[in-house]
Amino acid sequence: MKKKDRVLIFDTTLRDGEQAPGASMNMNEKLEVAYSLEKMGVDVIEAGFPVISPGDFASVKTVAKNIKCSVICGLARCVKKDIDAAADSLKFAQQARVHVFLATSKIHLEHKLKKNPDEILQMAVDAVKYAKKRFSDIEFSPEDASRSEKKFLYRIIEEVIKAGARTVNIPDTVGYSMPAEYGKLIADIKKNVPNINKAVISVHCHDDLGVAVGNSLSAIKSGARQAECTINGIGERAGNASLEEIVMAIKTRSDFYGLHTNINTEEICKTSRLVSRLTGFIVPPNKAIVGNNAFRHEAGIHQDGVLKERSTYEIMTPEDVGFIGTGLVLGKHSGRHAFKVRLKSLGIELTDKQLDKAFERFKKLTDKKKEIYDEDLIAIAEDEVRLVKDIWAFVDLTTTSGAKITPKVDVVLKSKGKTYCHSSSGDGPVDACYKAIDKIIKMKGELLDYSIQSVTRGKDAQGEVQIRVRLNDRTVVAHGTSTDIIVASAKAYINAVNKAMSLKEKPKVVLNYTP
Ligand code: KIV
Ligand code: ZN
Repeated sequence: MKKKDRVLIFDTTLRDGEQAPGASMNMNEKLEVAYSLEKMGVDVIEAGFPVISPGDFASVKTVAKNIKCSVICGLARCVKKDIDAAADSLKFAQQARVHVFLATSKIHLEHKLKKNPDEILQMAVDAVKYAKKRFSDIEFSPEDASRSEKKFLYRIIEEVIKAGARTVNIPDTVGYSMPAEYGKLIADIKKNVPNINKAVISVHCHDDLGVAVGNSLSAIKSGARQAECTINGIGERAGNASLEEIVMAIKTRSDFYGLHTNINTEEICKTSRLVSRLTGFIVPPNKAIVGNNAFRHEAGIHQDGVLKERSTYEIMTPEDVGFIGTGLVLGKHSGRHAFKVRLKSLGIELTDKQLDKAFERFKKLTDKKKEIYDEDLIAIAEDEVRLVKDIWAFVDLTTTSGAKITPKVDVVLKSKGKTYCHSSSGDGPVDACYKAIDKIIKMKGELLDYSIQSVTRGKDAQGEVQIRVRLNDRTVVAHGTSTDIIVASAKAYINAVNKAMSLKEKPKVVLNYTP
């Protein structure tokens, strides 16, 4: 296929995605996501907004140092200190981009920026010219473009291209546009900006009216060749356009679009799961492409059709998006080697030490659960590869509860070879369990969010508890899995304690920039 037929995928999970309330990730978690995006073949990773905080600066710098194949991008307002922060944080990147933005709609000019159009135009041009001193790859976004006056939009796009921008992004910042209208906007820009062929047109859509993906695809049909999106569609308010939906629409309907992306779609589900676990944002079961039910056929007529010929009810295969967990894989009699080989085929490689621990847990699980699915293996392995130190370890618990008695939980934990026990009562077994743990660890956590979902199938499925806890002056998202929900809850809480305590240690990157 020709170069002009390729749609570049610009992932902003680590910047706009992370702006979603409650979705914050620490530096190591961001790096983990960046590795996954790189493996998936994402063209550009927007790693953060470096000037906004020392933490964001350090995260962008870490991602820039470690990621080799994708372009790493930092966001900046049209001010020198933002552009300098972006340049400093990206100095080790193999390929760096700065993304400068400035609002262009009348509402933003009058109420937020209090500037007239000529002043805005000058600021944008000056910023791009300044950025040119430190970057060869510059993207410019007229924020709230879809509500901007068209003539002004054409003018500013033309001028920033003259000044050196090589990508012009057209954001539907507030998710206001409709697909036909947004597609037309892109077509109009192509028609009315004389030097537009010198830049790639990019799209960036928010999902306030539920049409972010529809808008992005409509724009692509009209000639946009970069799509800005996030994994699972996370982002400000209702979120951004979802990467997996845009990519799979382009791939599945190549007959309609005649385009392609560079994405290795088999990596999609793994990345989706990773982002969900790290942010604590659960993917709804009916979510397109990555939801648990996206490839499940329940109706008898559908099952019959799929068994006779898959394409009767399937437009993509689960394998296309790396949807794993369809088959029964290992059991009680499987050995360490089979376990290792199966994990490898799922894309998970553990060190010998991690493998020993994971295999021990797998064996324990085979005693409790007859059927072990790939999801069980992933849940076990993911627990072992976390970058969190096992300061506290779960040993055991006993619960006494019932409709007419106050629940009581006895908890046993271990730390540095010593065993600690405590028992507590509470409003429910989870509350009692967390109170007992608090007594042992001598800290008090504040539970902000609690959710449980089954991560494997069958009556003896493993439940995964995800929690958000305030501990040690930090808010952390943590998880725990078990076939017993109180044990899963305890493990999630201990994971949170270990995270909060590990995070207390010095970050690996020296924070040498203070905005
Ligand atoms: O939604 C938006 O307008 C943005 C810009 C910074 C591109 O996120
Ligand atoms: Zn945005």
